[in-house]
Amino acid sequence: MLTARAPGRVNLIGEHTDTSGGLVLPIAIDRYVTLQAMPTRDGVTRLVSETFSGVVEVSPSGELEWGSAPWGRYVAAVIRELRLLGVTPAGLEGRIRSDVPAGAGLSSSAALEVAVATALVAACGVQLDGRELALACQRAEHDAVGVPCGPMDQLISVLGVEGHGLRIDCSTLAVETIPIPGGVGVLVLESGVERRLEESPYALRLAELRAGHEGRLRHVRTENARVDELCAVLRQPIPDRATIGELFRASHLSLARDFEVSTPEVDTLVALAVEEGAFAARLTGAGFGGCVVALGSSEGLDALGQRTMGRYRAATGLAGRAHVCRAAGGARCSVSPAAVG
Ligand code: GLA
Repeated sequence: MLTARAPGRVNLIGEHTDTSGGLVLPIAIDRYVTLQAMPTRDGVTRLVSETFSGVVEVSPSGELEWGSAPWGRYVAAVIRELRLLGVTPAGLEGRIRSDVPAGAGLSSSAALEVAVATALVAACGVQLDGRELALACQRAEHDAVGVPCGPMDQLISVLGVEGHGLRIDCSTLAVETIPIPGGVGVLVLESGVERRLEESPYALRLAELRAGHEGRLRHVRTENARVDELCAVLRQPIPDRATIGELFRASHLSLARDFEVSTPEVDTLVALAVEEGAFAARLTGAGFGGCVVALGSSEGLDALGQRTMGRYRAATGLAGRAHVCRAAGGARCSVSPAAVG
């Protein structure tokens, strides 16, 4: 049996820069999509998931069979993209589960694509470069739901390094590991404002950038500079928390004012996290709802998250949730003789 597991991600800084070949600094998080499956003889892929709910069946050529659950679009698109790379995936029969919160801005769809691709490639014994696999998954996302996303989510899900963020130059795909300082914890705060990127102005923002919209371009220009400033601070033996906080603050303001992807709820959540003791907080991911990334001392981070969410619920009436996350390694696949459970 194959067990493939791919992490979700949270971006520390460098938001809405990957679509124009800019800089990003995400971490893979210790929340995963896990696929356990056996290769099939007929080349058909049949997957069941309690987390995503439903059953998915995809033909060897990558067509989604009638009656399949909506998440099957991602599976089918991954199979088609692998075929275009000359990889003829064996079929897989098994189960998928996930503890990456869906619709929260933690890249559950990228983790799904990468888990499926990692398992399919392992099942047919092909070696595929990690970047190539990630870019195939990015194209699968475009194909499955029509969101013109950049390469960040899939790259970090494949290439993540434990205890580190990755500075990725999205024009060259050059990657550099950046240590997360000891004693610093990463808190993800879900706003409870769910959104689907295909129904958001995500594609519109990209079109505005391409059309030379000054405010949008200013965000990308200043955000790229902030990525390198943050990397420089994090490379110091004792990174200065006040400077990190200032960079997060500037990033959030730029996303809210110049790029216009924040919401009043997310602004409230950022302010509350800082009031409750986070030394840095900002919108992370695509925005339009989604979640906030906050940094604080590892000790007491859980309590900080609970206090923040308590006040957030009282202020907005939205549920939201807090997650303490660790910087995890990228996707892996292992093979064991056990039967599918
Ligand atoms: C989504 C996209 C990414 C990136 C972020 C914003 O997560 O999938 O490619 O553009 O939004 O930084």
